[in-house]
Amino acid sequence: MPTPVVLDCDPGHDDAIAILLAAGSPEIDLRAITTVAANQTLDKVTLNARRICSAAGIAVPIARGCDRPLAGPLRVAEDIHGGTGMDGPAFGAVTAGVVEQHAIDVMHAHMPATLVATGALTNVATYLRRYGTAAVREIVLMGGSTGRGNTTPYAEFNIHVDPEAAHVVFTSGVPVTMVGLNVTHQALVTPEVVARLTTLGPLGRICGDLMTFFAATYREVFGFEAPPLHDPVAVARVIDPSLVACVEAFVGIETSGTYTRGATVVDLHARLGEPPNARVAVGLDVERFFDVVVEAVRNLS
Ligand code: BDR
Ligand code: CA
Repeated sequence: MPTPVVLDCDPGHDDAIAILLAAGSPEIDLRAITTVAANQTLDKVTLNARRICSAAGIAVPIARGCDRPLAGPLRVAEDIHGGTGMDGPAFGAVTAGVVEQHAIDVMHAHMPATLVATGALTNVATYLRRYGTAAVREIVLMGGSTGRGNTTPYAEFNIHVDPEAAHVVFTSGVPVTMVGLNVTHQALVTPEVVARLTTLGPLGRICGDLMTFFAATYREVFGFEAPPLHDPVAVARVIDPSLVACVEAFVGIETSGTYTRGATVVDLHARLGEPPNARVAVGLDVERFFDVVVEAVRNLS
């Protein structure tokens, strides 16, 4: 039986591939896509979700969610994802629409399901506050790190944008799987991967154009030789848990540090005496991961 999934995202180059991976994999029953402000404004990321769904012929409900974090102003990632939030490819006509209902109501309409979150956790936290935890099977999120950050020295972008929401999620009691930078930085889109994608036809070429832009900003901002495909790793964990090795650990969210707001404090050696509240990704089968990504794009092509 495929796993029912609602994908909450902020496309975003890697979010776009996460959408394709979820929609193109038979192990997942993608029920809805919900959008949240983070990589760019809510209007822009919602348009981007519609763009990639239109290009791939994905016909699931798309719903707009929260346009700002629970507390404080929105910080976007224009330096990484460009002015549109998904710079690079030329997209054709946008045929995919947006439903009227708010993201959290659409999430609830599709429960019980696994929530895969690849943006700030604002929608997910708002859902849990409004509807409670009972209907959510699991939350699998891309965010945080067992080590250093990427937005500040100790905070990863998705958690840094809305630490209060992350705190709600990690203390909710719902089974949470955290797929952080310590693992996603292994998912590097090499020129060989780009070549495999671009041979698949028009959709593959859009993926190639997305990755070419992403490669340029990751080279410029972080000095990476190839860009990390963060968000699809969370989807891959749902497709086949053996692709992403996890350990149980306590994860605290730093909401008030002087330099560390948005840090995920992962107690890998149980030093704090707190019970584990998450499964934390610690390993990735890189070769098989890219095989499932390429296969999903092929299935949609
Ligand atoms: C995360 O931040 C965003 O820019 C990416 O889409 C990914 O979800 C990586 O830190
Ligand atoms: Ca994202």
